[in-house]
Amino acid sequence: MLDLTVNRDSKPPLYRQIAEQIRTQISNGRLPANSRLPTVRGLARSLGVTRLTVQNAYAELQADGWIEATVGRGTFVSTAVQQMSLEPTVGQYLTPDSAINDMLAINQVIGVRSMAMAHADPTLFPLDAFWSHMDQLRPEANQLLSYGPIQGDTPLRVEICKMLREDGIPSSPDDILITTGAMQSISLALTAVAQPGDGILVEQPTFLAVLNILKAQGLRPLHVEMLPDGPDLAQLEQRIIEQRPRCYYTVANYHNPTGYCLSPAKRQAILQLAQRYNFLIIEDDIYGKLGFDGPPPRSFKQQDPDDRVLYVSSFSKMLMPGLRVGYLLMPPAWRSQLLTLRRATDLCGTSLIQRALAHFLQDGGLKKHLRRVIPIYRERRDALLNSLSRWMPTAVRWSEPQGGFSCWVTLPRRLPPGLLYQQALENGFAFTPGEAYMLDDDGRDYLRLCFGNLSAEGIEAGVKLLSALIQQQLTSSTPAGDWLPYV
Ligand SMILES: Cc1ncc(COP(=O)(O)O)c(C=O)c1O
Repeated sequence: MLDLTVNRDSKPPLYRQIAEQIRTQISNGRLPANSRLPTVRGLARSLGVTRLTVQNAYAELQADGWIEATVGRGTFVSTAVQQMSLEPTVGQYLTPDSAINDMLAINQVIGVRSMAMAHADPTLFPLDAFWSHMDQLRPEANQLLSYGPIQGDTPLRVEICKMLREDGIPSSPDDILITTGAMQSISLALTAVAQPGDGILVEQPTFLAVLNILKAQGLRPLHVEMLPDGPDLAQLEQRIIEQRPRCYYTVANYHNPTGYCLSPAKRQAILQLAQRYNFLIIEDDIYGKLGFDGPPPRSFKQQDPDDRVLYVSSFSKMLMPGLRVGYLLMPPAWRSQLLTLRRATDLCGTSLIQRALAHFLQDGGLKKHLRRVIPIYRERRDALLNSLSRWMPTAVRWSEPQGGFSCWVTLPRRLPPGLLYQQALENGFAFTPGEAYMLDDDGRDYLRLCFGNLSAEGIEAGVKLLSALIQQQLTSSTPAGDWLPYV
């Protein structure tokens, strides 16, 4: 069943060549879970290599979770490995929907080096500290596992207000709505302020799940090109005059997917446009606390005298996404409608988790956690930028994020749809193709690389592989003259 070859003239050592081919066959489904691999002696003999070479290959696959060896029974493809169906994305562009499905599936596959998801590293989660707060809540569990307040746990809202005050955003616990992640805040905010058919300004590229929300709510996305210091203001004003948008959704700090940060001047200019043309701003600040070189510029909400900014954030990136705790700072004009919508959606969140989080925050747990993880994420960002400089073909460009988890890579022209994505997956590496974040096509290819979730070594190995695949595709299928200049 195993179809392997080794090439003694090629650079990777023989054991690596064997391990790579087995990994590819597992990830593309040719070797399903539980299939038995040949014995070390049998495979060594059939390939004409030493037993030590095969042992090393198996040891590497075992360490990465691809295979399991049981004494006396043999070596098998691990049951924890889920095969991915690659077919849907090959030969066609990814939609925001299929990109999210793929990312979640890839996340479950052991052994894939994934830079596909803007995700905090689960191995860095402060589990012990969080759990001890959960344990201490045992005597109150009856109450905390009943239905809770619609607006969210009061002690948690108090703690969120303290955090916001430290960020220069005064608020009262009554202004806070706790939601199921930032996603629910964004969705409720859009439902409250916009009617189907209304135009909503979004940066291009933008957070792809927002494109899904707009579609589901029958809203019209109006895209404005995102430059390294924020949206193209001339284009923004033109869209506003022509389309009269209801609101502008922005990820101003460490933007997903580009990693860019809006400059203070552009924030001011957008606020002035919002006042002049009377539209609202949904400010998604989910990465705001993940700055590597100090805090980001003043938020929109900090400079919002007439309460036109709906400020959204969550603990998903700064702490743990599985808490599913987000929050929305409700301007007085929208408060009652937002609470009605929340009541009609899922009534309330999980008080037990919210209260444990409140105690964790009271105890200084978040600050301590951020002091620990930010240097690690900074180091991973540096590893990514260094690897890109070292390995990428010269025509490729990328952003230099000052925080968050996303780096945006620009290729000089369009490659065959889906091919790079599929080839990378077959080699055990995942990224997200840029088209999932774009509303229209400008003839180039983009990809997002997330650096939060892999070690510096994993990042370098992934970038090296990706660079080789890009190089191969750019040189093999380049119609001369089809290269676009960078802007
Ligand atoms: C910009 C942005 N907003 C919101 C979310 C979703 O946040 P949550 O998990 O809190 O719903 C993400 C997740 O990737 C994101 O990147």
